[in-house]
Amino acid sequence: MCGIVGYVGPKSTLDVLLGGLRRLEYRGYDSAGVSVIDPVEGLLTRKKAGKLDALISEVTEHPLPISHIGIGHTRWATHGAPTDGNAHPHLGGPHQKLALIHNGIIENFAELKAELTAAGTRFSSETDTEVAAHLIAREFENTGDLPTAFASVVNRLHGAFTILVIHEDAPDVVLAARRNAPLVVGLGDGENFLGSDVAAFVEHTKRAISVGQDQIVTLRRDSVEIHTFAGDKVTPEEFVVDWDASAASKGGWSSFMAKEIADQPQAVADTLMGRLSSSGTVTLTEIDGLSKADIASLDRIMIVACGTASYAGDIAKYAIEKWARVPVQVELSHEFRYRDPIITPNTLVVAISQSGETMDTLMATRYAAERGAKVLAICNTQGATLARESDAVIYTHAGPEVAVASTKALVAQITAGYLLALFMAQQRDTLSSAAAGELGRELLTMPAKVSTVLERLEAVATLGRDMADAKSVLFLGRNVGFPVAMEGALKLKELAYIHAEGFAAGELKHGPIALIETGQPVIVIVPSPRDSETLHPKVISNIQEIRARGAIVIAIAEDGDQLVGDFAEHVIFVPQAEPMFAPLLTVIPLQRFALELSTAKGLDVDQPRNLAKSVTVE
Ligand code: F6R
Repeated sequence: MCGIVGYVGPKSTLDVLLGGLRRLEYRGYDSAGVSVIDPVEGLLTRKKAGKLDALISEVTEHPLPISHIGIGHTRWATHGAPTDGNAHPHLGGPHQKLALIHNGIIENFAELKAELTAAGTRFSSETDTEVAAHLIAREFENTGDLPTAFASVVNRLHGAFTILVIHEDAPDVVLAARRNAPLVVGLGDGENFLGSDVAAFVEHTKRAISVGQDQIVTLRRDSVEIHTFAGDKVTPEEFVVDWDASAASKGGWSSFMAKEIADQPQAVADTLMGRLSSSGTVTLTEIDGLSKADIASLDRIMIVACGTASYAGDIAKYAIEKWARVPVQVELSHEFRYRDPIITPNTLVVAISQSGETMDTLMATRYAAERGAKVLAICNTQGATLARESDAVIYTHAGPEVAVASTKALVAQITAGYLLALFMAQQRDTLSSAAAGELGRELLTMPAKVSTVLERLEAVATLGRDMADAKSVLFLGRNVGFPVAMEGALKLKELAYIHAEGFAAGELKHGPIALIETGQPVIVIVPSPRDSETLHPKVISNIQEIRARGAIVIAIAEDGDQLVGDFAEHVIFVPQAEPMFAPLLTVIPLQRFALELSTAKGLDVDQPRNLAKSVTVE
């Protein structure tokens, strides 16, 4: 959702802001703007509906002077349409000397607006944000001190917000406040930065501070001070960003999504690195806080996540229940806290989130923590709110994921789920050490197998292009193939804007088979025929049932499956693997299929319509 950048220092502020906004584009947005302060001309603002290029044309047509302090914003519309007028920054005060940008929703804006309107303030946008700009400007006129005025107003705001403010009469300082929306500080030498995430400034500095809940940052060239909303000084903890700017660039690929699909062997390998020995033993120092006795006494695990991350949770459920014998429930975060879930002191809540900023997941984990559950996060973003607020974090080392549609973060989340399941099995003695070791060693072979799948994707790419006119595609899977089917359908919906559904293959005859008519494409994730409790014959029967009704079947099957070819129009083979690990392989053709189909339709694969990368509102 909205991207935020702030800068004070010797560099050209416009370059820093536009560079930061470019790197934050992946969050999803529909307008963009910047404000800078020039010693002679004062506060200057440029903003435009549309993509960043529209803003760049605007500053080319109406140039800004070189200045050394400023703020920049990409807006994902909530209150008010994506127009030039609703774009941020918003200006405050009768002389418009204050500029403000905001990510989130100010829930009490109507009441604040009524108060300002009654006092004669004229509004120039339909946003909830503008009230904050006018209130702070008015308070500054009354108090003569910008930090004091800022603190007093943010204390009056309800809802979720990261807010940044600059004022022409206080030209050395950027003020920022954070409640329920992300904010990080970048620490430079004689310069400092603010961003929605580290992507905003990673090309300039790797030293960062993650700002806590209800905290205010006072950012100057040579100092960064942090206080709570109540005015208490905070001693911040610094961290070093562990990826560099090039990791967040396309590096010659046609899209970020194409690059991120190709990054997947590395994402799996990096997530395993240091945690899985060559003998197959799992070490998770991150959850040292949970003793063997704690793990033994767990009565249930609740996994909370949204979208693609929830499918990683579904796969983790199969692995944890099978190997560690703990009951696992997977819940969509936004449903979780509204149904009075049963949480006991022996419940472990595992929150899976690439961004670590998904508001639904944050609210679910806060709810669980308030009721006494321990929260373990599986998260891809250092310094993210989820990571800060959880009792422990297993970081997925997928590197920055820029395309809105999740790919490499998913395989890293699935990998982390396997590690957690094996670790728990070790701690609970529910697998023999020989069996656990064998699974661990097999898991170590997965990065190479993922590479093999990538080498074989041409056929699936052709299929995707050939099916650009499809109106609907169905996906079927069983066991761990079921969440893969759901993920295949989600990718197609979000990237190609066509109807797609994932079903458990066994569910077909209970209703969905009525959808099958001549020419209906169905992608089937076929389980391994080698599994002792194999579902293979059952899925082959499902394929026969749908083909008899005219479906065109594309099967994703493992090497050596002799039978499947007789029953499907197309077969995409992936290497043989332990059946529990197959999702790491079978999901990849589905990602590429969606990418090709979307590209063939001329759509923007990295930034699909209406979507944002980080969903920071409920
Ligand atoms: C789909 C996708 C989303 C995210 C979901 C959760 O491709 O990316 O469904 O998985 O919005 O996001 P995180 O993992 O950041 O909590």
